[in-house]
Amino acid sequence: MSDSYDLWIRNGTVIPMTRNGDWLTGDVLVRDGRIATITRGSATGVRAREVLEADGNLVLPGLIQCHVHVVQSLLRHHADNLELLDWLRTRTWPYEAALAGDDVEAAAQLGFAELLAGGTTTVLDFGTTHDHDRVFAAAEAMGIRCLSGKTHMDAGDGVPQGLLEDTDRSLADAEELGRKWHGAAGGRLGYAVAPRFALSCSRELMEGCAELARRHGWLLQSHASENRTEVAEVDRRMGMGNIQYLHSVGLTGPDVILAHGVHLDGADRRLLAATGTGICHCPGANLKLASGVADVPAMLRSGITVGLGADGPPCNNRLSIFHEMALAGTLHNLRHGPKAMDPWKVLAMATRDAARLLHLETITGTLQPGLAADMVVVDATAWPLLPEADPAVRIVYGASAGHVLHTVVEGRILVRDARLTVADSAEIVRRIGEAGEAVRRRMKELIP
Ligand code: GUN
Ligand code: FE
Repeated sequence: MSDSYDLWIRNGTVIPMTRNGDWLTGDVLVRDGRIATITRGSATGVRAREVLEADGNLVLPGLIQCHVHVVQSLLRHHADNLELLDWLRTRTWPYEAALAGDDVEAAAQLGFAELLAGGTTTVLDFGTTHDHDRVFAAAEAMGIRCLSGKTHMDAGDGVPQGLLEDTDRSLADAEELGRKWHGAAGGRLGYAVAPRFALSCSRELMEGCAELARRHGWLLQSHASENRTEVAEVDRRMGMGNIQYLHSVGLTGPDVILAHGVHLDGADRRLLAATGTGICHCPGANLKLASGVADVPAMLRSGITVGLGADGPPCNNRLSIFHEMALAGTLHNLRHGPKAMDPWKVLAMATRDAARLLHLETITGTLQPGLAADMVVVDATAWPLLPEADPAVRIVYGASAGHVLHTVVEGRILVRDARLTVADSAEIVRRIGEAGEAVRRRMKELIP
Protein backbone atom coordinates (compact mmCIF):
# COMPACT_ATOMS: atom_id res chain seq x y z
CA MET A 1 0.00 0.00 0.00
CA SER A 2 1.51 3.33 -0.97
CA ASP A 3 -1.66 5.37 -0.62
CA SER A 4 -1.94 8.33 1.64
CA TYR A 5 -4.61 8.63 4.29
CA ASP A 6 -5.97 11.22 6.67
CA LEU A 7 -5.75 9.07 9.80
CA TRP A 8 -3.97 5.87 10.68
CA ILE A 9 -4.89 4.03 13.88
CA ARG A 10 -1.99 1.62 14.33
CA ASN A 11 -1.69 -1.74 15.99
CA GLY A 12 -4.99 -1.89 17.82
CA THR A 13 -7.17 -4.70 19.07
CA VAL A 14 -9.91 -3.91 16.58
CA ILE A 15 -13.47 -4.97 17.45
CA PRO A 16 -15.54 -4.26 14.32
CA MET A 17 -18.88 -5.43 15.82
CA THR A 18 -19.99 -6.74 12.44
CA ARG A 19 -20.26 -10.15 14.17
CA ASN A 20 -20.32 -10.90 17.89
CA GLY A 21 -17.12 -12.60 19.02
CA ASP A 22 -14.87 -11.27 16.23
CA TRP A 23 -11.77 -9.18 16.76
CA LEU A 24 -8.36 -8.80 15.18
CA THR A 25 -5.01 -7.14 15.72
CA GLY A 26 -4.40 -4.53 13.07
CA ASP A 27 -4.79 -1.01 11.73
CA VAL A 28 -7.67 1.21 10.68
CA LEU A 29 -7.02 3.61 7.79
CA VAL A 30 -9.25 6.59 7.20
CA ARG A 31 -9.75 8.80 4.19
CA ASP A 32 -12.30 11.62 3.69
CA GLY A 33 -14.03 10.86 6.96
CA ARG A 34 -14.64 7.22 6.12
CA ILE A 35 -12.98 3.96 6.95
CA ALA A 36 -10.88 3.07 3.90
CA THR A 37 -9.33 -0.21 5.06
CA ILE A 38 -8.97 -2.38 8.12
CA THR A 39 -5.78 -4.44 7.94
CA ARG A 40 -5.00 -7.64 9.78
CA GLY A 41 -1.49 -7.05 11.12
CA SER A 42 0.39 -3.81 10.55
CA ALA A 43 -0.02 -1.84 7.35
CA THR A 44 3.23 -1.06 5.53
CA GLY A 45 4.21 1.67 3.11
CA VAL A 46 1.41 3.86 4.36
CA ARG A 47 1.47 7.62 4.70
CA ALA A 48 -1.07 9.38 6.87
CA ARG A 49 -1.56 12.98 7.95
CA GLU A 50 -2.25 11.87 11.52
CA VAL A 51 -1.32 8.71 13.37
CA LEU A 52 -2.78 7.37 16.59
CA GLU A 53 -0.61 4.62 18.05
CA ALA A 54 -3.16 2.21 19.51
CA ASP A 55 -0.46 -0.06 20.90
CA GLY A 56 -2.80 -2.97 21.61
CA ASN A 57 -5.55 -0.72 22.96
CA LEU A 58 -9.15 -1.57 22.10
CA VAL A 59 -10.52 0.07 18.94
CA LEU A 60 -14.32 0.05 18.91
CA PRO A 61 -17.05 1.56 16.77
CA GLY A 62 -18.05 4.94 18.20
CA LEU A 63 -20.54 4.17 20.96
CA ILE A 64 -24.20 5.14 20.59
CA GLN A 65 -26.74 6.30 23.16
CA CYS A 66 -30.38 6.15 22.08
CA HIS A 67 -31.74 8.41 24.81
CA VAL A 68 -30.11 11.42 26.50
CA HIS A 69 -31.20 14.94 27.51
CA VAL A 70 -28.12 17.16 27.27
CA VAL A 71 -30.25 20.23 28.02
CA GLN A 72 -30.77 18.93 31.58
CA SER A 73 -27.03 18.98 32.35
CA LEU A 74 -27.01 22.08 34.58
CA LEU A 75 -29.47 20.37 36.95
CA ARG A 76 -27.15 17.46 37.62
CA HIS A 77 -26.54 16.80 41.33
CA HIS A 78 -29.47 19.11 42.17
CA ALA A 79 -32.42 16.73 41.73
CA ASP A 80 -31.67 13.60 43.70
CA ASN A 81 -33.70 11.07 45.68
CA LEU A 82 -37.06 11.58 43.96
CA GLU A 83 -39.44 9.41 41.92
CA LEU A 84 -40.28 10.35 38.33
CA LEU A 85 -43.37 12.55 38.67
CA ASP A 86 -42.05 14.47 41.70
CA TRP A 87 -38.67 14.75 40.00
CA LEU A 88 -40.37 16.26 36.92
CA ARG A 89 -42.75 18.59 38.76
CA THR A 90 -40.48 19.90 41.50
CA ARG A 91 -37.11 19.93 39.70
CA THR A 92 -36.85 19.17 36.00
CA TRP A 93 -39.80 21.15 34.64
CA PRO A 94 -39.08 24.27 36.77
CA TYR A 95 -35.44 23.99 35.66
CA GLU A 96 -36.33 23.66 31.96
CA ALA A 97 -38.76 26.59 32.27
CA ALA A 98 -35.99 28.72 33.82
CA LEU A 99 -33.46 28.06 31.02
CA ALA A 100 -32.58 30.93 28.70
CA GLY A 101 -31.02 30.39 25.28
CA ASP A 102 -27.44 30.82 26.52
CA ASP A 103 -28.10 28.31 29.31
CA VAL A 104 -29.42 25.77 26.82
CA GLU A 105 -26.17 26.06 24.88
CA ALA A 106 -24.00 25.84 28.01
CA ALA A 107 -25.91 22.75 29.18
CA ALA A 108 -25.53 21.14 25.76
CA GLN A 109 -21.78 21.85 25.75
CA LEU A 110 -21.40 20.14 29.12
CA GLY A 111 -23.43 17.17 27.92
CA PHE A 112 -21.56 16.77 24.63
CA ALA A 113 -18.16 17.23 26.30
CA GLU A 114 -18.91 14.43 28.74
CA LEU A 115 -20.37 12.19 26.03
CA LEU A 116 -17.40 12.58 23.70
CA ALA A 117 -14.82 12.19 26.47
CA GLY A 118 -16.63 8.98 27.42
CA GLY A 119 -16.57 7.50 23.92
CA THR A 120 -20.15 8.26 22.85
CA THR A 121 -20.04 9.47 19.26
CA THR A 122 -23.76 9.33 18.39
CA VAL A 123 -26.80 10.32 20.43
CA LEU A 124 -30.53 10.47 20.12
CA ASP A 125 -31.20 13.55 22.25
CA PHE A 126 -34.34 15.01 23.80
CA GLY A 127 -34.61 18.80 24.13
CA THR A 128 -36.79 21.11 26.12
CA THR A 129 -39.66 23.07 24.53
CA HIS A 130 -37.66 26.18 23.61
CA ASP A 131 -34.31 27.46 22.27
CA HIS A 132 -33.53 24.12 20.69
CA ASP A 133 -31.41 25.76 17.97
CA ARG A 134 -28.75 26.18 20.63
CA VAL A 135 -28.43 22.40 21.16
CA PHE A 136 -27.89 21.85 17.45
CA ALA A 137 -25.39 24.73 17.33
CA ALA A 138 -23.37 23.11 20.14
CA ALA A 139 -23.52 19.70 18.43
CA GLU A 140 -22.41 21.24 15.15
CA ALA A 141 -19.46 22.99 16.80
CA MET A 142 -18.34 20.01 18.88
CA GLY A 143 -18.45 17.40 16.13
CA ILE A 144 -20.73 14.79 17.72
CA ARG A 145 -23.25 12.88 15.59
CA CYS A 146 -26.58 13.99 16.95
CA LEU A 147 -30.23 13.30 16.25
CA SER A 148 -32.34 15.57 18.39
CA GLY A 149 -35.66 17.32 18.72
CA LYS A 150 -37.37 19.92 20.84
CA THR A 151 -39.86 18.35 23.20
CA HIS A 152 -43.62 18.90 22.99
CA MET A 153 -45.89 19.67 25.97
CA ASP A 154 -49.41 21.10 25.73
CA ALA A 155 -51.12 19.40 28.69
CA GLY A 156 -50.63 17.85 32.09
CA ASP A 157 -50.54 18.48 35.83
CA GLY A 158 -47.80 20.60 37.31
CA VAL A 159 -46.32 21.87 34.04
CA PRO A 160 -44.99 25.43 34.57
CA GLN A 161 -46.61 28.12 32.41
CA GLY A 162 -43.29 28.68 30.61
CA LEU A 163 -43.24 25.15 29.23
CA LEU A 164 -46.91 24.75 28.35
CA GLU A 165 -47.28 25.18 24.60
CA ASP A 166 -50.00 25.96 22.11
CA THR A 167 -50.51 22.76 20.11
CA ASP A 168 -50.14 24.23 16.61
CA ARG A 169 -47.24 26.48 17.60
CA SER A 170 -45.43 23.51 19.15
CA LEU A 171 -45.70 21.53 15.91
CA ALA A 172 -44.77 24.51 13.75
CA ASP A 173 -41.64 25.14 15.86
CA ALA A 174 -40.54 21.54 15.41
CA GLU A 175 -41.10 21.68 11.69
CA GLU A 176 -39.03 24.85 11.41
CA LEU A 177 -36.20 23.29 13.45
CA GLY A 178 -36.28 20.09 11.42
CA ARG A 179 -36.19 21.95 8.12
CA LYS A 180 -33.17 23.88 9.33
CA TRP A 181 -31.14 21.14 11.00
CA HIS A 182 -32.08 17.77 9.50
CA GLY A 183 -29.09 16.73 7.40
CA ALA A 184 -26.97 19.70 8.54
CA ALA A 185 -23.20 19.49 9.16
CA GLY A 186 -22.78 17.20 6.19
CA GLY A 187 -25.51 14.85 7.45
CA ARG A 188 -24.05 14.53 10.95
CA LEU A 189 -27.12 16.20 12.49
CA GLY A 190 -30.68 15.02 12.19
CA TYR A 191 -34.09 15.87 13.50
CA ALA A 192 -36.12 13.46 15.66
CA VAL A 193 -39.60 14.55 16.78
CA ALA A 194 -39.93 14.32 20.59
CA PRO A 195 -43.39 14.37 22.21
CA ARG A 196 -42.48 14.21 25.92
CA PHE A 197 -44.85 11.48 27.11
CA ALA A 198 -48.54 10.62 27.18
CA LEU A 199 -49.16 12.69 30.33
CA SER A 200 -47.87 16.00 28.93
CA CYS A 201 -49.33 15.91 25.43
CA SER A 202 -52.90 16.10 24.14
CA ARG A 203 -53.99 13.35 21.75
CA GLU A 204 -54.06 15.97 19.00
CA LEU A 205 -50.42 16.88 19.70
CA MET A 206 -49.32 13.23 19.76
CA GLU A 207 -51.03 12.59 16.43
CA GLY A 208 -49.58 15.82 15.04
CA CYS A 209 -46.05 14.72 16.01
CA ALA A 210 -46.49 11.36 14.29
CA GLU A 211 -47.86 13.05 11.18
CA LEU A 212 -45.06 15.64 11.10
CA ALA A 213 -42.31 13.05 11.47
CA ARG A 214 -43.71 10.79 8.76
CA ARG A 215 -44.31 13.64 6.32
CA HIS A 216 -40.57 14.45 6.49
CA GLY A 217 -39.10 11.00 7.14
CA TRP A 218 -37.82 12.03 10.58
CA LEU A 219 -37.59 9.63 13.52
CA LEU A 220 -39.89 9.81 16.56
CA GLN A 221 -38.85 9.49 20.19
CA SER A 222 -40.81 9.55 23.44
CA HIS A 223 -40.89 8.17 26.98
CA ALA A 224 -43.10 5.19 27.82
CA SER A 225 -44.01 3.04 30.79
CA GLU A 226 -41.16 4.25 32.96
CA ASN A 227 -42.93 4.48 36.32
CA ARG A 228 -45.90 2.73 37.95
CA THR A 229 -47.79 5.94 38.82
CA GLU A 230 -47.29 7.24 35.27
CA VAL A 231 -48.65 4.01 33.80
CA ALA A 232 -51.66 4.01 36.15
CA GLU A 233 -52.36 7.65 35.31
CA VAL A 234 -52.26 6.99 31.55
CA ASP A 235 -54.60 4.05 32.05
CA ARG A 236 -57.03 6.19 34.03
CA ARG A 237 -56.99 9.15 31.62
CA MET A 238 -56.88 7.33 28.29
CA GLY A 239 -58.85 4.25 29.27
CA MET A 240 -56.17 1.99 27.84
CA GLY A 241 -52.60 0.92 28.51
CA ASN A 242 -49.73 3.25 27.69
CA ILE A 243 -48.32 1.24 24.78
CA GLN A 244 -51.82 0.66 23.37
CA TYR A 245 -52.43 4.41 23.62
CA LEU A 246 -49.16 5.27 21.88
CA HIS A 247 -50.07 2.80 19.15
CA SER A 248 -53.48 4.49 18.76
CA VAL A 249 -51.88 7.91 18.16
CA GLY A 250 -49.30 6.61 15.67
CA LEU A 251 -46.35 6.39 18.05
CA THR A 252 -45.32 2.84 17.22
CA GLY A 253 -43.34 1.67 14.22
CA PRO A 254 -39.80 1.06 13.00
CA ASP A 255 -39.19 4.83 13.09
CA VAL A 256 -40.10 5.14 16.80
CA ILE A 257 -37.72 4.79 19.77
CA LEU A 258 -39.37 4.70 23.19
CA ALA A 259 -37.25 5.24 26.28
CA HIS A 260 -37.65 2.86 29.26
CA GLY A 261 -40.40 0.23 28.89
CA VAL A 262 -39.97 -0.69 32.56
CA HIS A 263 -43.61 -1.66 33.10
CA LEU A 264 -44.61 -3.73 30.06
CA ASP A 265 -46.67 -6.89 29.89
CA GLY A 266 -46.53 -9.64 27.27
CA ALA A 267 -49.17 -7.96 25.10
CA ASP A 268 -47.17 -4.68 25.14
CA ARG A 269 -44.01 -6.52 24.07
CA ARG A 270 -45.87 -8.34 21.28
CA LEU A 271 -47.27 -5.03 20.00
CA LEU A 272 -43.86 -3.34 20.10
CA ALA A 273 -42.26 -6.30 18.32
CA ALA A 274 -45.01 -6.57 15.69
CA THR A 275 -44.74 -2.86 14.86
CA GLY A 276 -40.92 -2.81 14.91
CA THR A 277 -40.89 -0.17 17.65
CA GLY A 278 -37.50 0.22 19.37
CA ILE A 279 -36.85 0.49 23.09
CA CYS A 280 -34.03 2.41 24.72
CA HIS A 281 -33.08 0.72 27.99
CA CYS A 282 -31.92 3.25 30.60
CA PRO A 283 -30.92 1.14 33.61
CA GLY A 284 -28.99 3.90 35.42
CA ALA A 285 -31.94 6.30 35.37
CA ASN A 286 -34.41 3.53 36.22
CA LEU A 287 -32.44 2.69 39.36
CA LYS A 288 -31.92 6.30 40.40
CA LEU A 289 -35.62 7.23 40.04
CA ALA A 290 -36.64 3.92 41.66
CA SER A 291 -38.67 3.15 38.53
CA GLY A 292 -37.97 -0.58 38.37
CA VAL A 293 -36.03 -3.01 36.22
CA ALA A 294 -37.06 -3.23 32.55
CA ASP A 295 -37.21 -6.87 31.48
CA VAL A 296 -34.72 -6.64 28.63
CA PRO A 297 -34.22 -10.41 28.17
CA ALA A 298 -38.01 -10.72 27.68
CA MET A 299 -37.95 -7.84 25.17
CA LEU A 300 -35.12 -9.47 23.23
CA ARG A 301 -36.94 -12.80 23.22
CA SER A 302 -40.02 -11.03 21.82
CA GLY A 303 -37.91 -9.65 18.97
CA ILE A 304 -37.72 -6.01 20.07
CA THR A 305 -34.55 -4.11 19.15
CA VAL A 306 -33.08 -2.56 22.29
CA GLY A 307 -30.53 0.25 22.61
CA LEU A 308 -28.99 1.88 25.66
CA GLY A 309 -29.03 5.42 27.05
CA ALA A 310 -28.07 7.32 30.17
CA ASP A 311 -31.21 9.53 30.01
CA GLY A 312 -30.78 12.93 31.73
CA PRO A 313 -27.82 13.99 33.87
CA PRO A 314 -30.13 14.82 36.82
CA CYS A 315 -31.54 11.28 36.92
CA ASN A 316 -28.39 9.18 36.57
CA ASN A 317 -26.03 11.30 37.29
CA ARG A 318 -23.60 10.53 34.49
CA LEU A 319 -23.82 10.19 30.73
CA SER A 320 -21.54 7.16 30.52
CA ILE A 321 -22.40 4.42 28.04
CA PHE A 322 -19.92 2.23 29.94
CA HIS A 323 -21.98 2.61 33.11
CA GLU A 324 -25.13 1.65 31.18
CA MET A 325 -23.39 -1.35 29.60
CA ALA A 326 -22.15 -2.56 32.99
CA LEU A 327 -25.67 -2.24 34.43
CA ALA A 328 -27.36 -3.85 31.42
CA GLY A 329 -24.82 -6.66 31.63
CA THR A 330 -25.47 -7.45 35.29
CA LEU A 331 -28.89 -6.16 36.41
CA HIS A 332 -30.91 -8.79 34.58
CA ASN A 333 -29.11 -11.58 36.44
CA LEU A 334 -31.44 -10.80 39.35
CA ARG A 335 -34.48 -12.02 37.42
CA HIS A 336 -32.97 -14.38 34.87
CA GLY A 337 -29.81 -15.82 36.42
CA PRO A 338 -26.12 -15.28 35.64
CA LYS A 339 -26.42 -15.98 31.89
CA ALA A 340 -29.14 -13.33 31.39
CA MET A 341 -27.08 -11.11 29.10
CA ASP A 342 -24.23 -12.07 26.78
CA PRO A 343 -21.60 -9.28 26.97
CA TRP A 344 -21.32 -9.29 23.18
CA LYS A 345 -25.08 -8.61 22.98
CA VAL A 346 -24.67 -5.74 25.46
CA LEU A 347 -21.86 -4.26 23.37
CA ALA A 348 -24.04 -4.68 20.26
CA MET A 349 -26.81 -2.71 22.02
CA ALA A 350 -24.35 0.21 22.28
CA THR A 351 -23.13 -0.11 18.68
CA ARG A 352 -24.68 -2.17 15.87
CA ASP A 353 -28.20 -2.57 17.27
CA ALA A 354 -28.36 1.09 18.27
CA ALA A 355 -27.32 2.16 14.77
CA ARG A 356 -30.16 0.05 13.39
CA LEU A 357 -32.64 1.69 15.78
CA LEU A 358 -31.52 5.12 14.59
CA HIS A 359 -31.55 4.07 10.90
CA LEU A 360 -27.82 4.82 10.79
CA GLU A 361 -26.50 1.30 10.14
CA THR A 362 -25.07 2.28 6.76
CA ILE A 363 -23.20 5.15 8.44
CA THR A 364 -22.03 4.07 11.90
CA GLY A 365 -22.26 1.37 14.59
CA THR A 366 -19.72 -1.04 13.07
CA LEU A 367 -16.20 -0.72 11.68
CA GLN A 368 -16.31 -1.51 7.97
CA PRO A 369 -14.76 0.05 4.89
CA GLY A 370 -17.11 2.70 3.51
CA LEU A 371 -18.74 3.57 6.82
CA ALA A 372 -18.02 6.82 8.64
CA ALA A 373 -14.82 6.73 10.69
CA ASP A 374 -16.58 6.94 14.08
CA MET A 375 -14.27 5.18 16.54
CA VAL A 376 -13.21 4.96 20.14
CA VAL A 377 -9.88 3.81 21.52
CA VAL A 378 -10.04 2.39 25.06
CA ASP A 379 -6.93 1.94 27.25
CA ALA A 380 -6.38 -1.82 27.45
CA THR A 381 -3.78 -1.33 30.19
CA ALA A 382 -6.23 0.34 32.61
CA TRP A 383 -6.24 -1.77 35.79
CA PRO A 384 -9.86 -3.04 35.55
CA LEU A 385 -9.28 -4.19 31.95
CA LEU A 386 -6.46 -6.53 32.95
CA PRO A 387 -5.52 -9.28 32.45
CA GLU A 388 -6.14 -9.83 28.74
CA ALA A 389 -9.37 -11.62 27.92
CA ASP A 390 -12.33 -11.59 25.55
CA PRO A 391 -12.71 -7.87 24.64
CA ALA A 392 -16.49 -7.70 25.19
CA VAL A 393 -16.03 -9.13 28.69
CA ARG A 394 -13.33 -6.55 29.44
CA ILE A 395 -15.40 -3.64 28.11
CA VAL A 396 -18.82 -4.51 29.52
CA TYR A 397 -17.72 -5.67 32.97
CA GLY A 398 -14.46 -3.76 33.39
CA ALA A 399 -14.34 -0.48 31.48
CA SER A 400 -15.41 3.02 32.50
CA ALA A 401 -15.77 6.29 30.62
CA GLY A 402 -12.45 7.39 32.15
CA HIS A 403 -10.64 4.66 30.20
CA VAL A 404 -11.36 6.30 26.83
CA LEU A 405 -8.18 7.63 25.24
CA HIS A 406 -9.35 8.88 21.84
CA THR A 407 -12.74 9.61 20.26
CA VAL A 408 -13.03 10.04 16.51
CA VAL A 409 -16.08 11.13 14.49
CA GLU A 410 -15.90 11.12 10.70
CA GLY A 411 -12.13 10.81 10.97
CA ARG A 412 -11.84 13.92 13.15
CA ILE A 413 -10.10 13.41 16.50
CA LEU A 414 -12.51 15.08 18.94
CA VAL A 415 -10.83 13.66 22.03
CA ARG A 416 -7.10 12.91 22.05
CA ASP A 417 -5.34 11.43 25.06
CA ALA A 418 -8.55 11.99 27.04
CA ARG A 419 -8.56 15.73 26.25
CA LEU A 420 -11.28 17.46 24.25
CA THR A 421 -9.75 18.99 21.10
CA VAL A 422 -12.87 20.70 19.76
CA ALA A 423 -13.63 23.10 22.59
CA ASP A 424 -11.87 24.94 25.37
CA SER A 425 -12.68 22.82 28.42
CA ALA A 426 -11.81 25.61 30.88
CA GLU A 427 -14.21 27.94 29.07
CA ILE A 428 -17.01 25.35 29.26
CA VAL A 429 -16.35 24.89 32.97
CA ARG A 430 -16.53 28.65 33.54
CA ARG A 431 -19.73 28.96 31.52
CA ILE A 432 -21.61 26.14 33.19
CA GLY A 433 -20.61 27.45 36.62
CA GLU A 434 -22.15 30.84 35.92
CA ALA A 435 -25.14 29.67 33.92
CA GLY A 436 -25.94 26.82 36.28
CA GLU A 437 -26.06 28.95 39.38
CA ALA A 438 -28.27 31.59 37.76
CA VAL A 439 -30.70 29.03 36.31
CA ARG A 440 -31.08 27.17 39.56
CA ARG A 441 -31.75 30.48 41.34
CA ARG A 442 -34.50 31.40 38.83
CA MET A 443 -35.88 27.87 38.93
CA LYS A 444 -36.65 28.12 42.67
CA GLU A 445 -39.42 30.66 41.96
CA LEU A 446 -41.10 28.18 39.64
CA ILE A 447 -41.25 25.21 42.01
CA PRO A 448 -44.90 24.57 42.90
N1 GUN B 1 -40.74 11.37 31.21
C1 GUN B 1 -41.15 12.55 30.71
N2 GUN B 1 -40.16 13.45 30.70
C2 GUN B 1 -39.09 12.84 31.21
C3 GUN B 1 -37.74 13.25 31.44
O1 GUN B 1 -37.33 14.39 31.21
N3 GUN B 1 -36.93 12.32 31.98
C4 GUN B 1 -37.34 11.06 32.28
N4 GUN B 1 -36.48 10.19 32.82
N5 GUN B 1 -38.58 10.65 32.06
C5 GUN B 1 -39.45 11.53 31.54
FE1 FE C 1 -35.63 10.73 29.29
